[in-house]
Amino acid sequence: MSKSILITGGAGFIGCHVVQLFVEKYPEYKIVNLDALTYAGNLENLKSVEGAKNYVFEKVNILDPDALDEVFANHEITDVIHLAAESHVDRSISDPLAFVMTNVIGTVNLLNSAKKYWAGELSNHLFYHVSTDEVYGSLHDGGFFLETTPYDPQSPYSASKASSDHFVRAYANTYKMKTVISNCSNNYGPNQFPEKLIPLCIHNIKNNKPLPVYGKGENVRDWLYVLDHARAIDVVFHKGKTGETYNIGGFNEWKNIDIVKLLCAKMDEKLGRAAGTSEKLITYVTDRAGHDLRYAIDATKIQNELGWEPSLQFDEGISLTIDWYLENQDWLEHVTSGAYQAYYSEHYADR
Ligand code: NAD
Ligand code: TYD
Repeated sequence: MSKSILITGGAGFIGCHVVQLFVEKYPEYKIVNLDALTYAGNLENLKSVEGAKNYVFEKVNILDPDALDEVFANHEITDVIHLAAESHVDRSISDPLAFVMTNVIGTVNLLNSAKKYWAGELSNHLFYHVSTDEVYGSLHDGGFFLETTPYDPQSPYSASKASSDHFVRAYANTYKMKTVISNCSNNYGPNQFPEKLIPLCIHNIKNNKPLPVYGKGENVRDWLYVLDHARAIDVVFHKGKTGETYNIGGFNEWKNIDIVKLLCAKMDEKLGRAAGTSEKLITYVTDRAGHDLRYAIDATKIQNELGWEPSLQFDEGISLTIDWYLENQDWLEHVTSGAYQAYYSEHYADR
């Protein structure tokens, strides 16, 4: 095998698409998927590759440095693509420390294991850190996030991701590790845990449950289909310049309320309901604390320098996403049983 790539968080939403893409496209690479299988990780996401010769799964927590060292040694890891994280802003508001632990301490543990295992030949190996546009803060007066935009994180989630980005850059500067970082906008698509806006609304529309819109629904996000993000990660991993940052986005800004209405209209059609039926489920609820107004990525650099651009139009991507959730009711039922119910009733109880 020409490379042995450690992909962390490969059982999560974005990670499972990255793992599948790499396993299928690069049979000459060994892909080691390391994941603690928290509530957000699910091996059902990886059924298509579980028997592949170039795929291995390791159930390991990035908070366990000894276990990380073992994985590096046992699999002779040559490169890392780091996605494992606590990823939901609302959870970071109720439990910030969990985000410091996994996103900051976990990332530093991984950097340490890589540095130790690659000692003496750091320049032959790449540590690729996958991050978010939320590190740049909230746009209030127009404009876009550039790679040079100063960090200004506003939520415990984005503060923890910003911190992890700083550590990656610090290891590049101090120890001369070969690193690259990408900061992506909001992803949507198959396999996303239904605590995030789009899958939560699809699930609730299907079940005739209220659609909780925070505040007035005026907040704006830039949305990218998850497979386009996975393709971008492939491009950055193979062609990105060492030490650089690449912003990844969909050139696709939407107000939350418009997305919810779009989902309602499309699902009325797909479920054979009269037009306007699902919109009646829209319920305005108490706003998220410190809710960032607008995120918008300028993805010109990756487009011009590495030749990546989004392949799917939003309308098509949303349609594929709804179809996936409607066709994978079992998946949805598994992930929404048990702990999900407790989270849901607690989080939405007082809103
Ligand atoms: P996710 O929550 O769906 O998946 C995270 C995965 O990490 C899960 O499989 C979970 O089991 C695993 N994990 C969590 N804590 C761990 C630990 N301590 N040790 C090992 N594994 C652990 O997240 P996602 O949406 O797939 O996001 C993946 C990465 O991409 C994250 O770093 C996130 O910050 C970043 N990102 C996400 C988005 C988005 O819209 N979802 C956008 C930009 C960047
Ligand atoms: P989310 O999917 O949690 O992603 P992020 O907070 O990382 O952008 O939320 C997307 C937007 O939708 C955000 O502005 C918050 C809003 N939102 C709601 O209005 N209702 C909900 O139930 C959820 C989960 C999110």
